[in-house]
Amino acid sequence: MPGIFCDHLLKDKTAFITGGSSGICLRIAERFAGHGARVMLVGRKQDKLDAAVAGIRSAGGVAEGFSADVRDYDALQNAFRKTAELWGEIDILLCGAAGNFPAPALGMSANGFKAVVDIDLLGTFNACRGSYEYLRKPGASVLSISATHAFTPIASQAHVCAAKAGVDMLTKVLAVEWGPSGVRVNVISPGPVDDTEGMRRLAPTYEVRARFTERIPLRRFATKDEIADLALFVSSSAATYINGAILVCDGGQCHTGHSL
Ligand code: COA
Repeated sequence: MPGIFCDHLLKDKTAFITGGSSGICLRIAERFAGHGARVMLVGRKQDKLDAAVAGIRSAGGVAEGFSADVRDYDALQNAFRKTAELWGEIDILLCGAAGNFPAPALGMSANGFKAVVDIDLLGTFNACRGSYEYLRKPGASVLSISATHAFTPIASQAHVCAAKAGVDMLTKVLAVEWGPSGVRVNVISPGPVDDTEGMRRLAPTYEVRARFTERIPLRRFATKDEIADLALFVSSSAATYINGAILVCDGGQCHTGHSL
């Protein structure tokens, strides 16, 4: 990827990224690394982490991987400790680990509902709570990847809708609690994003995809790059007064009364 490291909006910053071994969060990690940040990727699967770290390093970036499940507070603590030992204070926390499967409420067990709420909501709490002592104060940026599910009821997504609504409210509360110490806490709320595991599950056929696209004013899904660019902006010194914001990036879809 020659040329991508010519900009340095995050020079010498340290970023900690859950869910960073694939999908939107890997693209964000690549963008952060391309702008000079050292990135710690956290994910469940070691092979995916290794591949992601190797990709960033081969493009000239600085990256490490740590295998942990965001549902496990102690495992995350170890990851934060390791990051601090390597690189010092954490400037950017990105909470992106997420789970999903399409199923109506009557088609999922209590444990299925809990699995997604635990990954998305409890996992975000664990990352935020566990990171606090390691965050740069003042100056750190905490950013979570939510979804328009948070404010639009979507059939077959009861678990994700409930979890993402919780992520948005958790963000607003932390923005109020942590603002005085100079830590900003925000959310990006994407609509459908191309080339992601989530959309492969939710829009598996051409017909379903076309139906979604018709409801988006821009008539296309987002690219992972477009979400990464927004994450870069929010995490940079260009956004130092943005706190407690839910930044919707859905091509205008929520204004049509539709979501996924
Ligand atoms: N329909 C109904 N229930 C399902 C299901 C499906 N498609 N997939 C999983 N479940 C249920 C399981 O049956 C289990 O419930 P049970 O114990 O009552 O049988 C429960 O969910 C937990 O499953 P398990 O496989 O033990 O948990 P997990 O911790 O591995 O999490 C997922 C399961 C599906 C949440 C997780 O693997 C995942 O999200 N994978 C996809 C990642 C992804 O799409 N990321 C992008 C998100 S936008």
